[in-house]
Amino acid sequence: MRVNDPDIKFLFEPQAIAVIGASHNPTKIGHKIVANILEGGYPGQVYPINPKGGEILGLQVYKSIEEITDKIDVAVIAIPAKLVYEAVQSCAHHGVKFAVIITSGFSEIGNTEEETKLVAYARAHGMRILGPNIFGLYSAKASLNATFGPSEITSGNIAIISQSGALGVALVGKTKAANMGLSTIVSVGNKSDLAEEELLEYLVSDEGTKAIMMYIEGIKNGETLDTTLQMATKKKPIVVLKSGRSKKGAIAAASHTGSLAGADEIFSDIMGQSGVLRAESIQEALNWCQVLSSSPLPQGDNCVIITNGGGIGVLATDACEKYGVPLYDDIETMHNVFAEVVPKFGSVKNPIDITGQASLQDYGRALKAAMSYDEIHSIICLGCEAAGFDPEFFSTTIETLFSSHKLDKPMVFSFVGGPKIEESIYYLKARGVPIFFDVYEAVSTFGALYAHHRNLKEYMEEKTGITISDQEIDFGLIEEILNRVKQEKRQFLLAYEAEKLMQAARVPMPQSSIARNLDEVVKAAREIGYPVVMKVVSKDIIHKSDVGGVALDLENTDEVIDAYQAIIQNCRSRMPNAIIEGVEVAEMVQKGTETIIGARRDQTFGPIVAFGLGGIYVEVMKDVSFRALPIDRKEAIAMIKQIKSYPLLLGVRGEPQKDIERVLDTILKLGTILESCKSISDIEINPLMVYEQGKGVKAVDVRILLTT
Ligand code: COA
Repeated sequence: MRVNDPDIKFLFEPQAIAVIGASHNPTKIGHKIVANILEGGYPGQVYPINPKGGEILGLQVYKSIEEITDKIDVAVIAIPAKLVYEAVQSCAHHGVKFAVIITSGFSEIGNTEEETKLVAYARAHGMRILGPNIFGLYSAKASLNATFGPSEITSGNIAIISQSGALGVALVGKTKAANMGLSTIVSVGNKSDLAEEELLEYLVSDEGTKAIMMYIEGIKNGETLDTTLQMATKKKPIVVLKSGRSKKGAIAAASHTGSLAGADEIFSDIMGQSGVLRAESIQEALNWCQVLSSSPLPQGDNCVIITNGGGIGVLATDACEKYGVPLYDDIETMHNVFAEVVPKFGSVKNPIDITGQASLQDYGRALKAAMSYDEIHSIICLGCEAAGFDPEFFSTTIETLFSSHKLDKPMVFSFVGGPKIEESIYYLKARGVPIFFDVYEAVSTFGALYAHHRNLKEYMEEKTGITISDQEIDFGLIEEILNRVKQEKRQFLLAYEAEKLMQAARVPMPQSSIARNLDEVVKAAREIGYPVVMKVVSKDIIHKSDVGGVALDLENTDEVIDAYQAIIQNCRSRMPNAIIEGVEVAEMVQKGTETIIGARRDQTFGPIVAFGLGGIYVEVMKDVSFRALPIDRKEAIAMIKQIKSYPLLLGVRGEPQKDIERVLDTILKLGTILESCKSISDIEINPLMVYEQGKGVKAVDVRILLTT
């Protein structure tokens, strides 16, 4: 928010609210909003506005906002699109702090000009806009239901920010059905002005909000969102559900909200980097929010599964691996803790199997044992409807167990059984017990809990800082190179310029020199040592191989002479107008592990860095990791370890480990250069050949582009 902007608090906790378009017709949106505000018990002043005047639901209707003498914090606008600009002007003149524009028919259908006009006017007059194209907002703290959705919303501690109006309305219903309480639900629609980042500012400081869920279709300002999220996730868990994962989904989302859906992989990685938890489905997001908003955080990594069936226990073990839930494996301790509560034919190894004959009382004893032992930090309690327990007492027993231990340690339940058990699960869910029909569902909530726990823990640990010092990169030399390119009005660096830039950053490149005639070519090849490669040098030829301007693996003087003549002849005949400055003779690079490192200015997220293994790993498997810059050493290590082909760098089948340290350095250097040199838009090393540990790396090909 800018200095003169109104405090975002007034959007969620207004003292007085106006509804422009408050209709006398009960079927219209403008009427429903007034009705919801009244039914929700909003204690502030409500001013319905309609040129017809009269009365709506017992309230005096004002013909225009000018008739109102009171200050108004929020004006909800629900009149046709063509009338909105005038209403925005009146609101701004009246000193309204926030205009909540319900109306559709703006950028989402291509009417961007009108939307821009609204925002420009509002901003110039100190007013902010939520929407347009939204269903409104609900704030439990202000008992304010300024939506045209359901009139009854269960209040609680989960906040939802939804880009989709219809989904937002549906979520109000769904959370009610699941008896999950909301602190806020706010629709952002076209995000013409206010976007998630500003709403998050309020939600992270709101004591009534314990977990935040966001449904996102497209991002307007990824850099600001990312910065806000990095801060916000250190205070509260944030779960994001983003559509547009698939290519077709991304296109649908773009046309739905009029904003561009960023590449999904970049989005995912940057969300992870910020500590945001990305859910796959609506149900998963809600399950996570339920547990994150109500459970204590684990105090450590020792999770224990208690089960009455081996099968379901193994399923849970698999799920723990999938969702990153760390299982306790100290067999001796486990034996000491559980020996007395597990029959001889059971198992005291994690999963703790109290066997099919276990009664609900046996569950109680096992749970108590786990709760009382400090080194056990969380419990997954599972069961199959078996001979041992009486379904009649199932719900009361589980509810009692949960309420007596819910503040001690994280606990989650999953039971499989007949109609009585299923009924009980519904009953328990509605009472706030974290119980799930499916083991994977249950464990996935713990995955989110542990991911949030790890995020907070890492934040508390000392930062390693950016470890590339200015001494390692000669920025003076880089600026000189870039200035020359800019003077020539080029947007790309020639190979020898890119090479020089890499030298300035001390990134090793193959030895090479420029030769302008046959004698120089032969001399250069001898000095470098065979085998060598040769490439044409010309500002006019960018795709050298396409015109026969490249020769590889030249083993002796004769081959070098032939190649030189062939290159010159090919280029002259295929690009007769190109000015050929000579050829570059370079060392033929030894085979190593091919990697790719790229740094560029992303349209959505600003400066980012990417890392992947070369060849098929990048092209076919899309095995690449991304991070928003700046990153420190720890984050760079995380991005290297994230790729699936990471074991190849560690060395497989007896191969030695590769020089990961130098890869790390190169990632950090490219990131630092992109951050410091604003005129560079893209740097890509492809391939960066990585050799055995201690033997370094070599940037075989470097492509550098400048911003337009
Ligand atoms: N100030 C105040 N009230 C005004 C007005 C003004 N300048 N101009 C008109 N009105 C009144 C009208 O007289 C009418 O009241 P009435 O029914 O008592 O006569 C009321 O405002 C509504 O205007 P109307 O022309 O009937 O519009 P509508 O109710 O049919 O549609 C919208 C208005 C905003 C609902 C509609 O344009 C729209 O955008 N619908 C989609 C909303 C949506 O889906 N949003 C996204 C959700 S996710």
